Amino acid sequence: MAPSRALLSSTTTCTRQLRSLRAPIKPSQLRSISAYGYEQAKCLAFDKYGEPKDVLRLHSHSISPPHGDLVTVRFLASPINPADINQIQGVYPTKPSFTTSLSTSEPTAVGGNEGVAEVLSAGNKVKDVQKGDWVILKKQGFGTWRTHAQTTMENLVPIKNKDGLKPEQVGMVSVNPCTAYRMLKDFVDLQPGQWFVQNGANSGVGRAAIQLGKLWGYESINIVRKRDSGMEELKQDLQSLGADIVVTDEEFEKKDFRDRVKEATNGGREPIRLGLNCVGGSLVNSMAKHLAPDSHMVTYGAMSKQPVQLPTGLLIFKNISFDGFWVSRWSEQKPDEKERCVQEVLDLTREGKFKDMPMQPLTWNWETKQDQLVQAVQGTLEGFRSGKGIFVFGNEA
Ligand SMILES: NC(=O)c1ccc[n+]([C@@H]2O[C@H](COP(=O)([O-])OP(=O)(O)OC[C@H]3O[C@@H](n4cnc5c(N)ncnc54)[C@H](OP(=O)(O)O)[C@@H]3O)[C@@H](O)[C@H]2O)c1
Repeated sequence: MAPSRALLSSTTTCTRQLRSLRAPIKPSQLRSISAYGYEQAKCLAFDKYGEPKDVLRLHSHSISPPHGDLVTVRFLASPINPADINQIQGVYPTKPSFTTSLSTSEPTAVGGNEGVAEVLSAGNKVKDVQKGDWVILKKQGFGTWRTHAQTTMENLVPIKNKDGLKPEQVGMVSVNPCTAYRMLKDFVDLQPGQWFVQNGANSGVGRAAIQLGKLWGYESINIVRKRDSGMEELKQDLQSLGADIVVTDEEFEKKDFRDRVKEATNGGREPIRLGLNCVGGSLVNSMAKHLAPDSHMVTYGAMSKQPVQLPTGLLIFKNISFDGFWVSRWSEQKPDEKERCVQEVLDLTREGKFKDMPMQPLTWNWETKQDQLVQAVQGTLEGFRSGKGIFVFGNEA
């Protein structure tokens, strides 16, 4: 006899019941055993905007078996990106959906915007995926910091070939690499041998730009923030990805750096035609001064929270264009191109031509505590990190 919904909606009761049926069970196995097709799920959720440490709560709920066009997935890996924090703070343009569908008393949203999940089961009207397939999210705002979810295919993009790929690689493909890809291709028709200059070069986007740029024959000047230790290692790390010049912000601002640029660009005959701005502030003016006439400076991030002031001389006499790029808008406008971009980066990853960025993974098991999860999120906007935070889910199928 199938148990009542009331029983199934209580994670604790269900877990206790399962424990008595199967013994012995390790703590890490406690959840995720499906009973009668129901999935026990956890998510990191918030019902008001604020600092992650103040508003994020670990919430348990159950998911009924899918029917019709519904698909039940379990997450495999979900990164923690700077924009996710801004979204929880309420200062990001894409707002998450607040809903009571997860059996919360207040309308609640799940954190996280990017990730990869595995299909566990699907209703009889679902044709595009089957059990075991991997999917990523079509848009921002879905909420990816959760062990399981139930949705429809209009929110999902199937990964056509997952062979040779790790969940962490697929879970991080749709934001940073696609942003770097489009910024390198869509603003300037850069030719092999021509240069781009970027700040925040050790960010996820910056690392992707270095690698894609090198594959396409572009040369790059890469600016990173000066740090007290590990500077040489960082320079070598970025050079190993294909960075031609790596400098600190301080070195970049020095007068003699102009001579170095002149020499590297063959006296300007191999022009710097594109700038990528992750950081903001006065550094952007200095970068723009190195650009050839008719070049573009594309802003995609504001990590320093400092405004960019447009240098009028460069606008008037060199016709430098200052542009912005937002991958979310581009993805909504060009979903087919987005899929092609994702596919191409995954192919490069499989071939070993596109390397992972350094990560700080946190394994999210059934027994992982709220504090551990929230701490991983809260640290994201602190600078000088050794890698990007990413939840790697240990919930077995
Ligand atoms: N517009 C878009 O479509 C789009 C897409 C993706 C990302 N983004 C934005 O791009 C930025 C980077 O994202 P990501 O995922 O690549 O980041 P990430 O991998 O987490 O790296 C963060 C970067 O920001 C730097 N940083 C941190 N605090 C800073 C500060 N106070 N001043 C200057 N630099 C600072 C870090 O340098 P240190 O190592 O020196 O701390 C690091 O290079 C974020 O603002 C994000 O929202 C925008």
